Amino acid sequence: MTDKSRADLILHSASQLLTLAGGPQRGGSLGNLGIIEDGAIAVADGVILAVGSTDEIQRQFSAQRTIDAIGSVVLPGFVDPHTHLIFAGDRAAEFEMRIAGASYMEIMDAGGGIISTVKQTRAASVDSLVTQARLRLNRMLAYGTTTAEAKTGYGLELETELKMLQAILLLNDEGPIELAPTFLGAHALPPEYADSGEKEYEAYTAEIVEQMLPAVKRWWTKEASGEPFPFVDVFCEIGAFNLSQSRRILTCAKEIGFPLKIHADEFDGLGGTGLAVELGAASADHLVQTPPDDIAALGQSDTVAVALPCTPFGLAEREYTPAKSIIEAGGILALATDLNPGTAWCESMQMVIALACRYMDLTPAQAIAASTINAAAAIQRTEDLGSIESGKQADILILSVSDYRHLGYRFGTNLVSTVFKNGELVFPDS
Ligand code: NIG
Ligand code: FE
Repeated sequence: MTDKSRADLILHSASQLLTLAGGPQRGGSLGNLGIIEDGAIAVADGVILAVGSTDEIQRQFSAQRTIDAIGSVVLPGFVDPHTHLIFAGDRAAEFEMRIAGASYMEIMDAGGGIISTVKQTRAASVDSLVTQARLRLNRMLAYGTTTAEAKTGYGLELETELKMLQAILLLNDEGPIELAPTFLGAHALPPEYADSGEKEYEAYTAEIVEQMLPAVKRWWTKEASGEPFPFVDVFCEIGAFNLSQSRRILTCAKEIGFPLKIHADEFDGLGGTGLAVELGAASADHLVQTPPDDIAALGQSDTVAVALPCTPFGLAEREYTPAKSIIEAGGILALATDLNPGTAWCESMQMVIALACRYMDLTPAQAIAASTINAAAAIQRTEDLGSIESGKQADILILSVSDYRHLGYRFGTNLVSTVFKNGELVFPDS
Protein backbone atom coordinates (compact mmCIF):
# COMPACT_ATOMS: atom_id res chain seq x y z
CA MET A 1 0.00 0.00 0.00
CA THR A 2 2.76 2.46 0.95
CA ASP A 3 4.71 1.83 -2.24
CA LYS A 4 1.85 3.16 -4.35
CA SER A 5 2.24 6.58 -5.98
CA ARG A 6 -0.10 9.30 -4.78
CA ALA A 7 -2.72 10.82 -7.03
CA ASP A 8 -5.46 13.34 -6.23
CA LEU A 9 -8.06 11.45 -8.17
CA ILE A 10 -8.53 8.02 -9.70
CA LEU A 11 -11.35 7.55 -12.16
CA HIS A 12 -11.88 3.86 -12.89
CA SER A 13 -14.07 1.16 -14.42
CA ALA A 14 -14.88 2.96 -17.67
CA SER A 15 -16.50 0.53 -20.11
CA GLN A 16 -14.57 2.29 -22.88
CA LEU A 17 -11.91 4.86 -22.08
CA LEU A 18 -11.46 6.83 -25.31
CA THR A 19 -7.89 8.12 -25.03
CA LEU A 20 -7.58 9.69 -28.51
CA ALA A 21 -3.85 9.29 -27.92
CA GLY A 22 -1.26 10.00 -30.58
CA GLY A 23 -1.87 13.54 -31.80
CA PRO A 24 -4.05 15.08 -34.52
CA GLN A 25 -5.66 12.55 -36.86
CA ARG A 26 -4.98 13.35 -40.48
CA GLY A 27 -6.87 11.87 -43.43
CA GLY A 28 -7.67 8.16 -43.14
CA SER A 29 -6.32 7.96 -39.58
CA LEU A 30 -9.37 9.94 -38.39
CA GLY A 31 -11.45 7.95 -35.93
CA ASN A 32 -8.69 6.22 -33.99
CA LEU A 33 -10.18 6.41 -30.49
CA GLY A 34 -7.41 4.50 -28.67
CA ILE A 35 -9.96 2.59 -26.59
CA ILE A 36 -9.00 0.99 -23.27
CA GLU A 37 -11.68 -1.36 -22.01
CA ASP A 38 -12.26 -1.24 -18.26
CA GLY A 39 -10.06 1.85 -18.32
CA ALA A 40 -8.84 4.15 -15.56
CA ILE A 41 -7.06 7.49 -15.16
CA ALA A 42 -4.87 8.85 -12.35
CA VAL A 43 -4.85 12.65 -11.94
CA ALA A 44 -2.71 15.00 -9.82
CA ASP A 45 -2.65 18.80 -9.75
CA GLY A 46 -5.19 18.95 -12.57
CA VAL A 47 -2.97 16.95 -14.90
CA ILE A 48 -3.25 13.36 -16.10
CA LEU A 49 -0.55 11.23 -14.45
CA ALA A 50 -1.28 7.85 -15.97
CA VAL A 51 -3.82 6.01 -18.11
CA GLY A 52 -4.38 2.25 -18.23
CA SER A 53 -6.67 -0.57 -17.23
CA THR A 54 -8.48 -0.26 -13.91
CA ASP A 55 -6.34 -3.06 -12.57
CA GLU A 56 -3.06 -1.39 -13.60
CA ILE A 57 -3.97 2.04 -12.29
CA GLN A 58 -5.30 0.71 -8.98
CA ARG A 59 -2.15 -1.33 -8.46
CA GLN A 60 0.12 1.67 -9.14
CA PHE A 61 -1.75 4.55 -7.49
CA SER A 62 -3.69 5.46 -4.41
CA ALA A 63 -5.82 8.60 -4.16
CA GLN A 64 -7.96 10.47 -1.65
CA ARG A 65 -10.74 10.53 -4.14
CA THR A 66 -11.84 7.69 -6.38
CA ILE A 67 -14.68 7.81 -8.84
CA ASP A 68 -16.31 4.73 -10.26
CA ALA A 69 -17.44 5.38 -13.84
CA ILE A 70 -19.77 2.37 -13.36
CA GLY A 71 -19.25 0.92 -16.81
CA SER A 72 -19.76 4.15 -18.73
CA VAL A 73 -17.80 5.73 -21.58
CA VAL A 74 -15.06 8.16 -20.54
CA LEU A 75 -13.54 10.57 -23.06
CA PRO A 76 -11.72 13.92 -23.30
CA GLY A 77 -13.77 17.09 -22.85
CA PHE A 78 -15.04 18.47 -26.15
CA VAL A 79 -13.15 21.39 -27.65
CA ASP A 80 -15.44 23.73 -29.61
CA PRO A 81 -13.03 25.57 -31.92
CA HIS A 82 -15.44 28.04 -33.58
CA THR A 83 -18.00 30.07 -31.65
CA HIS A 84 -19.44 33.58 -31.73
CA LEU A 85 -20.09 33.22 -28.00
CA ILE A 86 -20.23 36.93 -27.16
CA PHE A 87 -23.32 38.76 -28.44
CA ALA A 88 -26.31 40.65 -27.13
CA GLY A 89 -29.97 39.86 -27.79
CA ASP A 90 -31.29 37.46 -30.39
CA ARG A 91 -32.59 37.30 -33.96
CA ALA A 92 -35.73 35.20 -33.53
CA ALA A 93 -37.71 37.49 -35.85
CA GLU A 94 -35.13 36.97 -38.59
CA PHE A 95 -35.46 33.20 -38.18
CA GLU A 96 -39.15 33.54 -38.90
CA MET A 97 -38.39 35.62 -42.03
CA ARG A 98 -35.97 32.96 -43.25
CA ILE A 99 -38.52 30.21 -42.76
CA ALA A 100 -40.89 32.32 -44.89
CA GLY A 101 -38.32 32.33 -47.71
CA ALA A 102 -35.79 35.18 -47.25
CA SER A 103 -32.15 34.07 -47.62
CA TYR A 104 -29.43 34.75 -45.04
CA MET A 105 -27.57 37.03 -47.45
CA GLU A 106 -30.81 38.87 -48.44
CA ILE A 107 -31.55 39.61 -44.79
CA MET A 108 -27.96 40.80 -44.36
CA ASP A 109 -28.18 43.07 -47.46
CA ALA A 110 -31.38 44.59 -46.05
CA GLY A 111 -29.49 45.69 -42.91
CA GLY A 112 -30.55 42.74 -40.77
CA GLY A 113 -28.35 39.79 -40.00
CA ILE A 114 -24.98 40.46 -38.43
CA ILE A 115 -25.63 44.23 -38.30
CA SER A 116 -28.72 43.77 -36.16
CA THR A 117 -26.58 41.91 -33.59
CA VAL A 118 -23.90 44.61 -33.95
CA LYS A 119 -26.40 47.27 -32.88
CA GLN A 120 -27.51 45.25 -29.85
CA THR A 121 -23.93 44.39 -28.90
CA ARG A 122 -22.70 47.98 -29.16
CA ALA A 123 -25.49 49.04 -26.81
CA ALA A 124 -24.66 46.38 -24.19
CA SER A 125 -22.25 46.86 -21.27
CA VAL A 126 -19.38 44.44 -20.65
CA ASP A 127 -21.33 43.15 -17.65
CA SER A 128 -24.37 42.46 -19.76
CA LEU A 129 -22.31 40.68 -22.44
CA VAL A 130 -20.68 38.56 -19.74
CA THR A 131 -24.05 37.70 -18.16
CA GLN A 132 -25.61 36.73 -21.49
CA ALA A 133 -22.60 34.65 -22.60
CA ARG A 134 -22.34 32.94 -19.19
CA LEU A 135 -25.76 31.34 -19.71
CA ARG A 136 -24.51 29.87 -22.98
CA LEU A 137 -21.26 28.69 -21.36
CA ASN A 138 -23.25 26.91 -18.66
CA ARG A 139 -25.15 25.00 -21.33
CA MET A 140 -21.94 24.23 -23.22
CA LEU A 141 -20.35 22.83 -20.06
CA ALA A 142 -23.36 20.67 -19.26
CA TYR A 143 -23.11 19.23 -22.78
CA GLY A 144 -19.42 18.44 -22.37
CA THR A 145 -17.48 21.37 -23.82
CA THR A 146 -14.47 22.14 -21.64
CA THR A 147 -12.62 24.55 -23.98
CA ALA A 148 -14.00 26.88 -26.65
CA GLU A 149 -12.78 29.44 -29.10
CA ALA A 150 -14.72 32.75 -28.86
CA LYS A 151 -14.82 35.52 -31.46
CA THR A 152 -15.42 39.23 -31.45
CA GLY A 153 -17.04 40.62 -34.62
CA TYR A 154 -20.25 42.23 -33.41
CA GLY A 155 -18.57 45.57 -32.71
CA LEU A 156 -16.99 46.50 -36.03
CA GLU A 157 -15.43 49.51 -34.32
CA LEU A 158 -12.54 49.42 -31.93
CA GLU A 159 -14.35 50.24 -28.70
CA THR A 160 -16.93 47.46 -28.96
CA GLU A 161 -14.45 44.97 -30.40
CA LEU A 162 -12.24 45.55 -27.32
CA LYS A 163 -15.31 45.33 -25.07
CA MET A 164 -15.96 41.88 -26.54
CA LEU A 165 -12.33 40.83 -25.99
CA GLN A 166 -12.67 42.07 -22.41
CA ALA A 167 -15.79 39.92 -21.93
CA ILE A 168 -13.88 36.90 -23.26
CA LEU A 169 -10.99 37.52 -20.86
CA LEU A 170 -13.37 37.92 -17.88
CA LEU A 171 -15.26 34.73 -18.68
CA ASN A 172 -12.01 32.85 -19.22
CA ASP A 173 -10.80 33.98 -15.79
CA GLU A 174 -14.09 32.96 -14.26
CA GLY A 175 -13.97 29.44 -15.80
CA PRO A 176 -14.46 26.59 -15.79
CA ILE A 177 -14.58 26.64 -19.60
CA GLU A 178 -11.31 27.90 -21.04
CA LEU A 179 -11.64 30.34 -23.91
CA ALA A 180 -9.35 30.89 -26.90
CA PRO A 181 -10.03 34.43 -28.18
CA THR A 182 -10.31 35.54 -31.80
CA PHE A 183 -10.50 39.08 -33.19
CA LEU A 184 -13.06 39.14 -36.03
CA GLY A 185 -13.20 42.87 -36.82
CA ALA A 186 -13.57 41.79 -40.45
CA HIS A 187 -16.97 40.15 -39.93
CA ALA A 188 -19.08 42.67 -41.88
CA LEU A 189 -19.07 46.26 -43.07
CA PRO A 190 -19.90 48.60 -40.15
CA PRO A 191 -23.36 50.23 -40.37
CA GLU A 192 -21.75 53.71 -40.53
CA TYR A 193 -20.98 53.12 -44.20
CA ALA A 194 -23.93 54.47 -46.20
CA ASP A 195 -23.20 52.17 -49.12
CA SER A 196 -21.83 48.64 -49.24
CA GLY A 197 -19.73 48.67 -52.41
CA GLU A 198 -16.13 47.62 -52.94
CA LYS A 199 -14.96 51.16 -52.14
CA GLU A 200 -16.46 50.93 -48.67
CA TYR A 201 -15.01 47.47 -48.07
CA GLU A 202 -11.60 48.78 -49.16
CA ALA A 203 -11.90 51.70 -46.75
CA TYR A 204 -12.87 49.46 -43.82
CA THR A 205 -10.12 46.99 -44.74
CA ALA A 206 -7.62 49.87 -44.55
CA GLU A 207 -9.05 50.87 -41.16
CA ILE A 208 -8.63 47.32 -39.85
CA VAL A 209 -5.08 47.04 -41.13
CA GLU A 210 -3.84 50.50 -40.26
CA GLN A 211 -5.69 51.16 -37.01
CA MET A 212 -7.56 48.24 -35.48
CA LEU A 213 -4.96 45.46 -35.67
CA PRO A 214 -2.16 47.59 -34.14
CA ALA A 215 -4.60 48.86 -31.49
CA VAL A 216 -5.73 45.33 -30.62
CA LYS A 217 -2.10 44.30 -30.28
CA ARG A 218 -1.35 47.21 -27.94
CA TRP A 219 -4.47 46.57 -25.88
CA TRP A 220 -3.77 42.84 -25.60
CA THR A 221 -0.17 43.41 -24.58
CA LYS A 222 -1.39 45.64 -21.77
CA GLU A 223 -4.56 43.81 -20.63
CA ALA A 224 -3.48 40.22 -21.12
CA SER A 225 0.27 40.41 -20.94
CA GLY A 226 1.92 37.02 -21.22
CA GLU A 227 -1.20 35.39 -22.71
CA PRO A 228 -0.86 34.07 -26.29
CA PHE A 229 -2.19 36.52 -28.87
CA PRO A 230 -5.76 36.06 -30.07
CA PHE A 231 -6.39 34.63 -33.51
CA VAL A 232 -7.36 37.04 -36.28
CA ASP A 233 -10.23 35.88 -38.50
CA VAL A 234 -11.93 37.26 -41.66
CA PHE A 235 -15.34 36.47 -43.19
CA CYS A 236 -14.22 35.87 -46.80
CA GLU A 237 -17.41 35.71 -48.85
CA ILE A 238 -19.43 37.44 -51.57
CA GLY A 239 -21.26 40.16 -49.62
CA ALA A 240 -18.44 40.30 -47.07
CA PHE A 241 -14.65 40.57 -47.59
CA ASN A 242 -13.26 39.50 -50.96
CA LEU A 243 -10.10 37.45 -51.38
CA SER A 244 -7.73 40.38 -51.81
CA GLN A 245 -9.15 42.22 -48.77
CA SER A 246 -8.94 38.98 -46.76
CA ARG A 247 -5.34 38.55 -47.92
CA ARG A 248 -4.46 42.08 -46.88
CA ILE A 249 -5.96 41.72 -43.40
CA LEU A 250 -4.54 38.27 -42.68
CA THR A 251 -1.10 39.12 -44.07
CA CYS A 252 -0.89 42.22 -41.90
CA ALA A 253 -2.13 40.26 -38.86
CA LYS A 254 0.51 37.60 -39.44
CA GLU A 255 3.26 40.20 -39.81
CA ILE A 256 2.46 41.70 -36.44
CA GLY A 257 2.35 38.33 -34.73
CA PHE A 258 -1.26 37.12 -34.68
CA PRO A 259 -2.15 33.48 -35.47
CA LEU A 260 -4.82 33.20 -38.18
CA LYS A 261 -8.24 31.75 -38.95
CA ILE A 262 -10.69 32.33 -41.80
CA HIS A 263 -14.41 31.93 -42.55
CA ALA A 264 -14.20 30.50 -46.07
CA ASP A 265 -16.46 28.91 -48.68
CA GLU A 266 -19.69 29.09 -46.63
CA PHE A 267 -21.71 30.12 -49.68
CA ASP A 268 -19.09 30.69 -52.42
CA GLY A 269 -15.64 29.25 -52.99
CA LEU A 270 -13.55 32.42 -53.29
CA GLY A 271 -10.14 30.92 -52.54
CA GLY A 272 -10.14 31.68 -48.81
CA THR A 273 -9.09 28.14 -47.92
CA GLY A 274 -6.10 28.29 -50.27
CA LEU A 275 -5.19 31.62 -48.70
CA ALA A 276 -5.36 30.09 -45.22
CA VAL A 277 -3.03 27.28 -46.28
CA GLU A 278 -0.64 29.73 -47.96
CA LEU A 279 -0.43 31.89 -44.82
CA GLY A 280 -0.16 28.92 -42.44
CA ALA A 281 -3.48 29.66 -40.69
CA ALA A 282 -4.43 27.47 -37.73
CA SER A 283 -7.75 26.69 -39.40
CA ALA A 284 -10.09 27.37 -42.31
CA ASP A 285 -13.73 27.14 -41.26
CA HIS A 286 -17.12 26.37 -42.92
CA LEU A 287 -15.73 24.87 -46.19
CA VAL A 288 -19.00 23.96 -47.88
CA GLN A 289 -18.17 25.22 -51.39
CA THR A 290 -14.42 24.64 -51.24
CA PRO A 291 -12.86 24.21 -54.71
CA PRO A 292 -11.04 20.88 -55.32
CA ASP A 293 -7.61 22.57 -55.54
CA ASP A 294 -8.10 24.09 -52.12
CA ILE A 295 -9.14 20.73 -50.67
CA ALA A 296 -5.97 19.24 -52.13
CA ALA A 297 -3.94 22.08 -50.58
CA LEU A 298 -5.51 21.42 -47.16
CA GLY A 299 -4.36 17.81 -47.39
CA GLN A 300 -0.74 18.95 -47.71
CA SER A 301 -0.93 21.42 -44.84
CA ASP A 302 -1.36 21.67 -41.07
CA THR A 303 -4.26 24.09 -41.47
CA VAL A 304 -7.24 22.37 -39.82
CA ALA A 305 -10.51 22.17 -41.80
CA VAL A 306 -13.25 23.10 -39.33
CA ALA A 307 -16.71 21.94 -40.43
CA LEU A 308 -19.77 23.60 -38.89
CA PRO A 309 -22.75 21.39 -39.67
CA CYS A 310 -25.11 23.35 -37.40
CA THR A 311 -24.87 26.22 -39.89
CA PRO A 312 -26.39 24.57 -42.98
CA PHE A 313 -28.79 22.81 -40.63
CA GLY A 314 -29.70 26.13 -38.98
CA LEU A 315 -30.22 27.73 -42.39
CA ALA A 316 -32.16 24.69 -43.66
CA GLU A 317 -29.67 24.24 -46.49
CA ARG A 318 -28.81 20.98 -48.14
CA GLU A 319 -25.08 21.18 -48.63
CA TYR A 320 -22.59 20.35 -45.92
CA THR A 321 -18.80 20.29 -45.73
CA PRO A 322 -17.49 17.52 -48.04
CA ALA A 323 -15.75 15.67 -45.21
CA LYS A 324 -14.99 12.57 -47.27
CA SER A 325 -13.03 14.60 -49.85
CA ILE A 326 -11.10 16.43 -47.13
CA ILE A 327 -10.25 13.14 -45.44
CA GLU A 328 -9.27 11.51 -48.75
CA ALA A 329 -7.00 14.47 -49.49
CA GLY A 330 -5.26 13.86 -46.14
CA GLY A 331 -6.61 16.92 -44.32
CA ILE A 332 -7.07 17.37 -40.58
CA LEU A 333 -10.83 17.64 -40.05
CA ALA A 334 -12.40 19.18 -36.95
CA LEU A 335 -15.97 20.01 -35.89
CA ALA A 336 -17.42 23.05 -34.10
CA THR A 337 -20.82 24.53 -33.28
CA ASP A 338 -20.41 28.03 -34.87
CA LEU A 339 -22.66 29.11 -31.96
CA ASN A 340 -24.09 32.48 -33.07
CA PRO A 341 -27.46 34.25 -33.00
CA GLY A 342 -27.97 34.26 -36.78
CA THR A 343 -27.27 30.90 -38.35
CA ALA A 344 -26.65 28.42 -35.55
CA TRP A 345 -27.58 29.07 -31.95
CA CYS A 346 -26.44 25.71 -30.66
CA GLU A 347 -24.28 25.07 -27.61
CA SER A 348 -24.02 21.29 -28.02
CA MET A 349 -21.07 19.46 -29.58
CA GLN A 350 -23.22 16.32 -29.21
CA MET A 351 -25.67 17.86 -31.69
CA VAL A 352 -22.76 18.71 -34.01
CA ILE A 353 -21.63 15.07 -33.88
CA ALA A 354 -25.15 13.83 -34.66
CA LEU A 355 -25.37 16.15 -37.70
CA ALA A 356 -21.85 15.29 -38.90
CA CYS A 357 -22.70 11.57 -38.84
CA ARG A 358 -25.85 12.10 -40.90
CA TYR A 359 -24.89 14.85 -43.35
CA MET A 360 -21.12 14.55 -43.60
CA ASP A 361 -21.03 10.75 -43.49
CA LEU A 362 -18.67 10.60 -40.53
CA THR A 363 -18.69 7.58 -38.27
CA PRO A 364 -19.25 8.32 -34.57
CA ALA A 365 -15.55 7.57 -33.98
CA GLN A 366 -14.48 10.06 -36.67
CA ALA A 367 -16.83 12.72 -35.34
CA ILE A 368 -15.52 12.22 -31.78
CA ALA A 369 -11.89 12.61 -32.92
CA ALA A 370 -12.91 15.72 -34.89
CA SER A 371 -14.47 17.16 -31.70
CA THR A 372 -11.54 16.46 -29.37
CA ILE A 373 -7.95 16.05 -30.56
CA ASN A 374 -8.47 17.63 -34.01
CA ALA A 375 -10.54 20.44 -32.52
CA ALA A 376 -7.64 21.11 -30.14
CA ALA A 377 -5.39 21.35 -33.22
CA ALA A 378 -7.68 24.04 -34.67
CA ILE A 379 -6.85 26.27 -31.68
CA GLN A 380 -3.20 25.13 -31.49
CA ARG A 381 -3.63 23.40 -28.15
CA THR A 382 -2.71 19.76 -28.88
CA GLU A 383 0.09 19.86 -26.33
CA ASP A 384 -2.29 20.04 -23.40
CA LEU A 385 -5.83 19.32 -24.67
CA GLY A 386 -7.90 16.94 -26.77
CA SER A 387 -6.81 13.53 -25.52
CA ILE A 388 -6.42 11.49 -22.33
CA GLU A 389 -2.67 11.03 -22.12
CA SER A 390 -0.19 11.57 -19.32
CA GLY A 391 0.89 15.20 -19.07
CA LYS A 392 -2.33 16.62 -20.53
CA GLN A 393 -4.95 18.64 -18.66
CA ALA A 394 -7.47 16.43 -16.88
CA ASP A 395 -10.47 17.66 -18.92
CA ILE A 396 -12.64 14.55 -18.86
CA LEU A 397 -16.25 13.53 -19.54
CA ILE A 398 -18.23 10.58 -18.23
CA LEU A 399 -21.22 9.63 -20.37
CA SER A 400 -24.40 7.94 -19.18
CA VAL A 401 -23.94 5.15 -21.76
CA SER A 402 -21.49 2.27 -22.13
CA ASP A 403 -20.97 2.35 -25.93
CA TYR A 404 -19.40 5.46 -27.52
CA ARG A 405 -21.54 5.07 -30.66
CA HIS A 406 -24.49 6.50 -28.76
CA LEU A 407 -22.76 9.81 -29.58
CA GLY A 408 -24.00 10.46 -33.08
CA TYR A 409 -26.73 7.85 -32.89
CA ARG A 410 -28.75 9.81 -30.33
CA PHE A 411 -29.47 13.52 -30.44
CA GLY A 412 -31.37 16.23 -28.63
CA THR A 413 -30.73 14.81 -25.17
CA ASN A 414 -27.63 15.09 -23.07
CA LEU A 415 -25.50 11.94 -22.77
CA VAL A 416 -22.86 13.65 -20.60
CA SER A 417 -23.34 12.86 -16.93
CA THR A 418 -20.14 14.28 -15.41
CA VAL A 419 -17.54 16.86 -16.46
CA PHE A 420 -14.06 17.42 -15.00
CA LYS A 421 -11.98 20.49 -15.86
CA ASN A 422 -8.34 20.44 -14.77
CA GLY A 423 -9.21 17.48 -12.53
CA GLU A 424 -12.03 19.31 -10.72
CA LEU A 425 -15.62 18.14 -10.85
CA VAL A 426 -17.45 21.04 -12.57
CA PHE A 427 -20.68 19.41 -13.71
CA PRO A 428 -23.04 18.56 -12.17
CA ASP A 429 -22.52 21.45 -9.80
CA SER A 430 -21.84 20.12 -6.32
O1 NIG B 1 -20.05 31.84 -39.00
N1 NIG B 1 -20.77 33.68 -41.50
C1 NIG B 1 -20.50 34.60 -40.75
N2 NIG B 1 -20.59 34.60 -39.44
C2 NIG B 1 -21.38 33.71 -38.68
C3 NIG B 1 -22.78 34.14 -38.60
C4 NIG B 1 -22.88 35.32 -37.78
C5 NIG B 1 -24.27 35.87 -37.64
O2 NIG B 1 -25.15 35.62 -38.49
O3 NIG B 1 -24.45 36.59 -36.65
C6 NIG B 1 -21.18 32.30 -39.14
O4 NIG B 1 -22.10 31.62 -39.60
FE1 FE C 1 -18.64 31.69 -37.71
